[in-house]
Amino acid sequence: MCGIFGCVCKKENVAPLIRKGLKRLEYRGYDSVGEATIKDGKLFIKKDAGKIDEVHKKCNLDDLPGRIGVGHTRWATHGAPSSINAHPQFDCSSPPRFAVVHNGIIDNFAELKKELEEKGHVFKSKTDTEVIAHLIEEHFVQKPQADARKTVAKTGISKLEEAVSKSLSQLDGSYALAAISTYEPDKIVCARNESPLVLGISENGQFFASDIPAFLPLTKNAIFMRNGELAVLKDDSFTIKNISDQRIILREPKLLDWTPEMAEKKGYTHFMLKEIHEQPEALRNTLRLQDKYLDLLTTFLDRAHEVIMVACGTSYHACLAASYMFSKVSYLATHPVIASEFSEQHSRSANIDSTILAVSQSGETADTLAAVETARQRAATILGLTNVVGSTLTRVSRVYIVQQSGPEIGVAATKTFTSQLSVLSQLAIQLAKKRGKISTEEIDLLEDKIQLIPEMVEQIIESQESKVSSLAKKLRDEKCFFFLGRGISVATALEARLKLMELAYVPSIAFPAGESKHGPISLIQEGFPVFFICPPGETRKTLIGNISEMKAREANIITVCEEGDEEIIQLSDDYIEVPRGLPEVLSPITYVVPLQIFAYRMATEKGYSPDMPRNLAKSVTVR
Ligand code: G6P
Repeated sequence: MCGIFGCVCKKENVAPLIRKGLKRLEYRGYDSVGEATIKDGKLFIKKDAGKIDEVHKKCNLDDLPGRIGVGHTRWATHGAPSSINAHPQFDCSSPPRFAVVHNGIIDNFAELKKELEEKGHVFKSKTDTEVIAHLIEEHFVQKPQADARKTVAKTGISKLEEAVSKSLSQLDGSYALAAISTYEPDKIVCARNESPLVLGISENGQFFASDIPAFLPLTKNAIFMRNGELAVLKDDSFTIKNISDQRIILREPKLLDWTPEMAEKKGYTHFMLKEIHEQPEALRNTLRLQDKYLDLLTTFLDRAHEVIMVACGTSYHACLAASYMFSKVSYLATHPVIASEFSEQHSRSANIDSTILAVSQSGETADTLAAVETARQRAATILGLTNVVGSTLTRVSRVYIVQQSGPEIGVAATKTFTSQLSVLSQLAIQLAKKRGKISTEEIDLLEDKIQLIPEMVEQIIESQESKVSSLAKKLRDEKCFFFLGRGISVATALEARLKLMELAYVPSIAFPAGESKHGPISLIQEGFPVFFICPPGETRKTLIGNISEMKAREANIITVCEEGDEEIIQLSDDYIEVPRGLPEVLSPITYVVPLQIFAYRMATEKGYSPDMPRNLAKSVTVR
């Protein structure tokens, strides 16, 4: 996830507007920043790694001249945060003629880059975005000015617009992008496919942005771009078109009544709620991971004598779920270990044959890094899964995967958890292919099902949010909860408990349902709230027995089950339904979502701030 913003205005000196707009998008990414403007037929550029204020302090972003410009605040996906990889990206000319900013992921950039290099294009960065600038350059056939004007008159399409359109037709993947060129310094061409893009319309000029807050202090007239649309912005006009057939689309601006603060959270009351709602998008990003990285990482896992997964907090729960996935799908035994315990448990046994898979959203958690360091000193192989390119974990890992969830601001992990699970399940499936232990039909089924998950999560949020909110209202004064599941659902139960404890400050207990009768059931009295996670599959039948044990002792039974699972529903005092058809081994990705919402609502019911729970930090960099 990144933020893009730019404008073409009637008055000079748009650079400060762009910097301030980007600042309001910094929640979308903040590892590097850049701007390009045009004045007197020349591109002016400033970009560097670092947060906007740091880069501005170093090189004064505001003194770029001109009435037109584009800017970008980055959350790296391809290529580490650096000045060269920061956007805008440019064509080959020196000085450059085209500048492009982009949010999204170009799936086929490696193939396009190869083709362009064969045609003589020279690439400077490691980004996927740079191919767009070179493609536009390639398609922009230079003609004398008079001819170019004739082309516009005849077709209604400028050469820049034509070059951008042709380039877009070659791109697979997601994008919200904008291009400017010194050849046509009066316009910005921007386009959208799957990544958000909104236009701000005003008498003083036109704006584009990844999100409304960027231009909210400048105009309240907004047009939301849809997938497959392109817009040409000039200081006094805008045109929107369908990319595939160039058909003009007439759409009136909407008058917004948002305050800038509301807009930063996209109208959600808290970042956590916004991030819960962003899960379908984040999950779609994980389905775009390049096969070669999954393949490389699974090659190491396949050869490993032992695999130890280290992580803290929510990331540890992802590892726990993954240990079931690797065992069931790939027949690989793995050991999930809480990172702060790793040294005690494994400092002697880890060796050159050990493989450590470290999972950390931030890539900076001190306990996880310490575990990695201990293992490194014993010559173990380090593999990483993180959300932050350039984080310490990416530097110390032999191979790493970036999950591409975009920044998570709420302290409690939500979208990064489901994305971790999605990546880990893809690894398990990829490894299964290598090991040939399950049939190709089973692999195909899992691959098909994983594609459905983003939509299922969308459905859960849409259909269950108000029901879960009412449940939170009803249960707000309960003093303790049980969260129970069997098999992989134990990880879901532990995560649900963690969310409730850390946000709503309700001490709760989670454990494998089969353990109840070995102690915890003694706490049960009439009305004691017990959540059961009940996906269909191998564990369901035995779990029904566990539910009955609790019911016989008059517990208040709340279940998360598959839509229309009447047997479970009959046993429940309350139930939350999840779409049908996901195999049990993938179920934590969908089953955890209503439980995240439950914890969120419990916190707000009790008047606590879910974004900043007391005593906690997003990234714990001390041991
Ligand atoms: C902190 C956060 C948790 C997170 C844990 C691990 O405790 O509050 O939400 O799960 O750190 O963070 P990591 O960045 O390593 O995934």
